[in-house]
Amino acid sequence: MNAALNQQWWRDAVVYQIYPRSFADSNDDGEGDLAGITSRIDYLRKLGIDAVWLNPCYLSPMRDGGYDVADYRRIDPRFGSEADFDAFVNACHSAGIRVIMDIVPNHCSSEHVWFREALSSPAGSEPWRRFHCVRGRGDGGHEPPNQWQSVFSGPAWTELSNADGTASGWWYLHLFDPSQPDLNWDCDDVRAEFDDIIRHWFDRGVDGLRIDVATGMVKAPGYPEPDDSWPHPHWDQDGVHDIFRRWRSIADEYDDRVLVAEAILGFPDRLARYLRPDELHMAFNFSSLTSPWDATSFVDAITWPLFHNDSIGAPTTWLLENHDIARVVSRFSGAPLRQPEENITILDHVPARALTDAELERGTARSRAALLMSLALPGSFYLYAGGELGLPEVLEIADDYRDDPVWHRTAGGTTGRDGCRVPLPWTEDGATFGFNVGEKTWLPQPAWWGRWSVERQELDAHSCLAFTRAAIAARHAVRFVGSTTDVTAHDGVLTFTRDTADAVRVRCTVNMGENAVPLPAGEVIIASTPVADALPPDVCVWTYT
Ligand code: NOJ
Repeated sequence: MNAALNQQWWRDAVVYQIYPRSFADSNDDGEGDLAGITSRIDYLRKLGIDAVWLNPCYLSPMRDGGYDVADYRRIDPRFGSEADFDAFVNACHSAGIRVIMDIVPNHCSSEHVWFREALSSPAGSEPWRRFHCVRGRGDGGHEPPNQWQSVFSGPAWTELSNADGTASGWWYLHLFDPSQPDLNWDCDDVRAEFDDIIRHWFDRGVDGLRIDVATGMVKAPGYPEPDDSWPHPHWDQDGVHDIFRRWRSIADEYDDRVLVAEAILGFPDRLARYLRPDELHMAFNFSSLTSPWDATSFVDAITWPLFHNDSIGAPTTWLLENHDIARVVSRFSGAPLRQPEENITILDHVPARALTDAELERGTARSRAALLMSLALPGSFYLYAGGELGLPEVLEIADDYRDDPVWHRTAGGTTGRDGCRVPLPWTEDGATFGFNVGEKTWLPQPAWWGRWSVERQELDAHSCLAFTRAAIAARHAVRFVGSTTDVTAHDGVLTFTRDTADAVRVRCTVNMGENAVPLPAGEVIIASTPVADALPPDVCVWTYT
């Protein structure tokens, strides 16, 4: 890689998100692995992406898809060896693709050596300083310290047992599953350990880290109940910014390494605080991911993050789907969506029933339009693997196969995230559609999966895959520069313009309304669905103004 050429590569990168368990399986055990990804480097290169973001592949009991890390410096053997990891990074770099890993600092796994040590010590004793271990309320302390709820539903506290099995009256905090104890970031050991982990991966050649639950690491002192003065006592506390300043100074010890926040915040001004010049490089803008298919709503989802981020010179980071939310084809299909259970803050939005053919067609058209629109926006764009194929959410996963703790903790009340994590279809036929050459996959693939396969789409010039490649190539060719301040909606049509390095202006227009409208004047650069003399509903077009 010639890093010197583009130190600011992250500002407008197209990053491809790979869920390693579901991408490609080289050893036929049913789970994807690093060698599987490496074997598909040509596929990644042809997409035209600048970087990949790899979901966690560290040693883990996999209670939450690897977001429960038992050892932050080791690759889980299910994903391959340490050498497989290095080979993967080298192969990416040789192809001009950078690598972003996931780092999970809010919590570790209950199998992490620190938690095991704590568990084998009396509740509240010294080894517990690295966690949030608090005396409960009520007689004997058998009521949780406060009412905080886990993101995955139920109380965020679990009571510890004494050596003799009796309840201790001491509780530990887990904002997610009980197998994911929250780390105590007031503890110097925790801070020092993560400094070292970050250096470990940067030293191994990783180009960036995506920070899981970046808003949650610091808890309000005394664990207060939410109220008007502390609406979110465990989210977005000022103290997290000290941690990120410290991390930024570590990143700056290296050439062009980046830090990306997963920071789910309703307020773009709060999000921009994570992007101040001495903090993080990027932070996902989730408003674009949760917006319904509605031009006015998208104008808000685009304008406010741009306004706040532009004002401090930070880029805005766009995405349409990831491993935590139902596939965009299904979300935008118009089919009724399941309402998540009360108290679940996790994003859900899974269709309540199978899509009709018309809904599938509509969802696919909208997903292509949204992709083209996102690629025209200032900033970086993250494309979740399978998005380029237009994969819909898989609804028909039998209960026995469901893996997501959200499903289990709500006894099926919330569908969870398995339907967007199904192993990818590479070939039209075969027991696992080319995911491996064996018979099994960790989540079952539906019978219709081959229709969406890479093999089939490579033969079709109008496929989602062909379109995605063309759209990314068009973005590179057009060479957008600067931001945009003219995002507007009129009669269901959203439009904005961008300057380019070639001193010509490009207009992006998306018809989110119900009727066809005239095509904007000027030469068409690319359209999400071929257009003739009008812009039909659910189509996006780029034109020279
Ligand atoms: C966000 C991750 O994207 C999600 O998959 C995970 O369950 C939670 N953080 C907890 O780590």
